[in-house]
Amino acid sequence: MGKIYVFDHPLIQHKVAMIRDKATGTKDFRELVEEIAMLMTFESTRDLELEDVEIETPICPTTVKMLKGLDVAIVPILRAGLGMVEGIQKIIPNAKVGHIGLYRDPETHEPHEYYCKMPEDIDKRKILVTDPMLATGGSAVAAIDFIKERGGKDITFMCLIAAPEGIKVLQEAHPDVDIYIAATDRCLNENAYIVPGLGDAGDRIFGTK
Ligand code: PRP
Ligand code: URA
Repeated sequence: MGKIYVFDHPLIQHKVAMIRDKATGTKDFRELVEEIAMLMTFESTRDLELEDVEIETPICPTTVKMLKGLDVAIVPILRAGLGMVEGIQKIIPNAKVGHIGLYRDPETHEPHEYYCKMPEDIDKRKILVTDPMLATGGSAVAAIDFIKERGGKDITFMCLIAAPEGIKVLQEAHPDVDIYIAATDRCLNENAYIVPGLGDAGDRIFGTK
């Protein structure tokens, strides 16, 4: 069974509190989402492999640990997942980026795919799927289905806010996937929005409402 990791770090909790506030405007919201994603990356990449490398410091030769391969792919679920990409790239600048376009039908809340483009060697990479919101779990499950159909194996899901319903659905559909969550919330409302949540993540990142 994949691991579920919920962050309790004060910096992350503080920044999540700020993005929940409806008074936080688009620019600050976008910057905070990027910062939270960057902070979460330290933990969600803890299992990256290291190897011994011989170098010389100005003082003497020595053996140091370096990443074995920079073989990470970030796969944002469009649109809102895009807001987390730059934060992760600040820490892993060589990561390749794939994209999955999904939108939730406003009536049925079912996800619909409109775009998918993965790095060619996706089967060999550690894949970080990003989406700020895990609500019913439909979008995350569909996105990970598409990634697996294209050969992806080593998959981690990173979100900012998750509802218990979404965590259960994702864990049951993809028990091999680790889930990293900045904060877990109470429930979903009648429109399948997370309560208390932060509203529509895509609209708040891109200022579309
Ligand atoms: C939002 C969010 C997730 C999805 C979560 O996207 O960014 O992708 O809803 O809901 P779920 O867990 O119930 O599937 P939305 O469909 O609103 O598209 P957008 O990012 O383009 O705004
Ligand atoms: N999508 C969002 O953007 N917010 C929610 O609360 C649920 C789904």
